Amino acid sequence: MHLTLTNLCKVVFQLLILLLISLPTHAQTELEKDSLSKMDWFSEAKLGIFIHWGLYAVNGIDESWSFYNGYISHEDYLKQTAGFGAENYDPKAWAKLIKESGAKYAVITSKHHDGFALWDTQFGNLNAVDNSKAQRDVLTPFTKAVRKEGLKLGIYYSLPDWSSDLYTHFTTTDMRYKIADEPERWQKFKDYYQGQIDELSKTYKPDLWWFDGDWEHSAEEWKAAKVRARLLTDNSKTIINSRLPKNGDYGTPEQGVPLTKPEETFWELCMTMNDSWGFQHNDHNYKTPNQIIRIFIDCLRMGGNLLLDIGPKADGTIPEEQVEILKELGRWTEKHSEAIYGTQAGIPTDYYYGASTLSKDRKTLYLFVPHKPNGPLVVRGLKNKVNRIRVVGNGTKLSQQIHNKPYWSAKPGILYIDVPESTLDEQVTVIALLLDGEIELEGK
Ligand code: GLC
Repeated sequence: MHLTLTNLCKVVFQLLILLLISLPTHAQTELEKDSLSKMDWFSEAKLGIFIHWGLYAVNGIDESWSFYNGYISHEDYLKQTAGFGAENYDPKAWAKLIKESGAKYAVITSKHHDGFALWDTQFGNLNAVDNSKAQRDVLTPFTKAVRKEGLKLGIYYSLPDWSSDLYTHFTTTDMRYKIADEPERWQKFKDYYQGQIDELSKTYKPDLWWFDGDWEHSAEEWKAAKVRARLLTDNSKTIINSRLPKNGDYGTPEQGVPLTKPEETFWELCMTMNDSWGFQHNDHNYKTPNQIIRIFIDCLRMGGNLLLDIGPKADGTIPEEQVEILKELGRWTEKHSEAIYGTQAGIPTDYYYGASTLSKDRKTLYLFVPHKPNGPLVVRGLKNKVNRIRVVGNGTKLSQQIHNKPYWSAKPGILYIDVPESTLDEQVTVIALLLDGEIELEGK
């Protein structure tokens, strides 16, 4: 091209337009860029196990909240230190069981809102070594066992410490001070809590941080951005949950199962098996394995994770009901692993009246069947040809029928699949549809 001045202007102008078009609609923040590059293992993991273990297991009362809400005095709450013995604690068996459940990561409460630390912290003496019957660090052995099983390690850490004199809040009716009145005291608390986080970060190099309790102060008051920056300096790949306010990588809905796909790209539902996070001998209101598996499937179909909680007893044993749930979950996840790990959110429920997931290459569609079908499964609006249909974990090949597809119509027909009763899983059956290419849906 002969480069005249006008031509040059045109080229520069076109380049400018190209540059503008290629810019994302909103400039990606540093935080977003940072998040995306390290979330692969998390989004593929799908299942994690949460562990609430602390003083509260001794009496079997609500973790930290029981004294905060005034159901027991702080003094009596702390008397539980005398019963926290960890006599039968077997961290290797815990990690093994977690692995057996099909979980890919574990998140353990290093310190809840009550301030009781499971490790040998140099900050304060309310910890398992200095101030409990166990008289030893009970966190380190678990972190080692988790790594040995090839699981990712998550550390739960409560920002507030309701037992510390340096902290603002004590109970619902008793606040120690306001930051504006005593900024130096607040500074001391920040040094204290950030010091503990530093210890945890340097000692365990967690793959994931599960912060909690942020609601009592703003992101600015917590100096959350500073905490994030420090953690990333120690381990640039560490993942941080959204409860480090304004500085998290993923959302954490709690107990309430989302009805529709949450806004966040990455999210994890945290949920108890019964009605308590920690061990409570009185709480037998367990969900059945079937109910838990179906909630898990709900997370999968919307592209999210489930963080399922267990609450070991004060002696370190995991309650029988919880062990049984983990084992049945393990049987189901192992059999259906291809429909779980590394999958993406499935198709909208208008196309299949149930939950589904898609393989990473989007060429296999997995349909979840929670009941004994009274007739064939129905898939509508699927443009692809289905090359093969099989029952996952069982191998049985299934046939298909297509109706309402006259030769002159461009509209996909209705796909019917009969699932013989003999192939059904005791919990939820999964059917894999191998498509002739990446999934294509009518109207999408
Ligand atoms: C809430 C509660 C806490 C529990 C946590 C788990 O924030 O304060 O007791 O540990 O949820 O998600």
